[in-house]
Amino acid sequence: MHVSHLSLADFRSYARAEVPLDPGVTAFVGPNGQGKTNLVEAIGYLATLGSHRVSSDAPLVRMGADRAIIRAAVTQGERQQLVELELNPGRANRARINRSSQVRPRDVLGIIRTVLFAPEDLALVKGDPGERRRFLDELVTARSPRMAAVRSDYERVLKQRNTLLKSAAMARRHGGRSMDLSTLDVWDQHLARVGAELLAQRLDLIATLLPLADKAYEQLAPGGGPLGLAYKSSVGEPVDSGAARTREALYEVLLAALAEVRKQEIERGVTLVGPHRDDLVLRLGELPAKGYASHGESWSYALALRLASYELLRSEGSEPVLILDDVFAELDTRRRERLAELVAPGEQVLVTAAVDDDVPGVLVGTRFGVSGGEVTRL
Ligand SMILES: Nc1ncnc2c1ncn2[C@@H]1O[C@H](COP(=O)(O)OP(=O)(O)O)[C@@H](O)[C@H]1O
Ligand SMILES: [Mg+2]
Repeated sequence: MHVSHLSLADFRSYARAEVPLDPGVTAFVGPNGQGKTNLVEAIGYLATLGSHRVSSDAPLVRMGADRAIIRAAVTQGERQQLVELELNPGRANRARINRSSQVRPRDVLGIIRTVLFAPEDLALVKGDPGERRRFLDELVTARSPRMAAVRSDYERVLKQRNTLLKSAAMARRHGGRSMDLSTLDVWDQHLARVGAELLAQRLDLIATLLPLADKAYEQLAPGGGPLGLAYKSSVGEPVDSGAARTREALYEVLLAALAEVRKQEIERGVTLVGPHRDDLVLRLGELPAKGYASHGESWSYALALRLASYELLRSEGSEPVLILDDVFAELDTRRRERLAELVAPGEQVLVTAAVDDDVPGVLVGTRFGVSGGEVTRL
């Protein structure tokens, strides 16, 4: 698939923007702070309902405006679709597909698929577990958009369970009446049920992704691997071995783990086990990448994870749009060229760069200049 037109209203620095797009490579070139990333961030938002730079919507709305609109025409073979999101910070966002307003934002997922490479990706390797959980869950959702509902159910159940635990912790501290624990049992079951579904999808993803990531790493940094991806579960026992991986088995494992930590949970007032406390341990050769890999190795690792995501999504459905936001400037010549060769055949590749020289020669295509809020075809 590819995006054939992008329209923005009051998104980031843009009061308005109309950008017609072709398949193949398109580069947005211009000095820093001119609005290049803002353009690709908008496309990424339509694909994931989130930004790769910020976790809340407020910064996405142009300063002084009260809502932002992102609209895109999407071409998939012979089919054209129009998707639109209205971002209303503090209130519910709204969505339209082909001008029909009878849809939820979540229904937009799956129409545009993207794989986005950005300098922020280094955090996949060096950052907190939350970065890797987000990576996994966004990819899980891109593979299977219905998982968006599972993720939001999990968030909701977790929040309500935490509220309950907090009031139990308070009651305990102030010597009040102890809580009726049967209510907590019900929430344990909810959490284990939804958590098991998310966990099963994450584990399946990791198993599928590993050979692809390993291959991509070998292409970017020959002889540097092999990679290992190990799921580190908060339940304290390995959950990624074959038999334990079914949803039913994971439900039992989670339920048992919750029972085991219940006393501590009531003392501390938070949920201590579940997918929200898990991590993905990235290994390079014998060592964990985090804390051990060099800067260059960490970069190659992050790129390998993105390239693997791309291979995975295209093998399972429509070809995603590849977005490379300011990444070439971060790489040495060899990695730059390898990466460019690997992505060049993509159906649609959107690149941002401060100067033309940062865009590798094999990525010939359409060029736009971005400056002073204007996006001009060169
Ligand atoms: N909500 C907003 N309202 C107005 N301007 C914004 C908003 N968010 C970001 N900007 C501006 O957008 C510019 C950054 O755009 P960006 O696309 O990141 O630049 P680059 O071309 O370097 O990728 C900054 O000048 C910033 O002040
Ligand atoms: Mg930028």
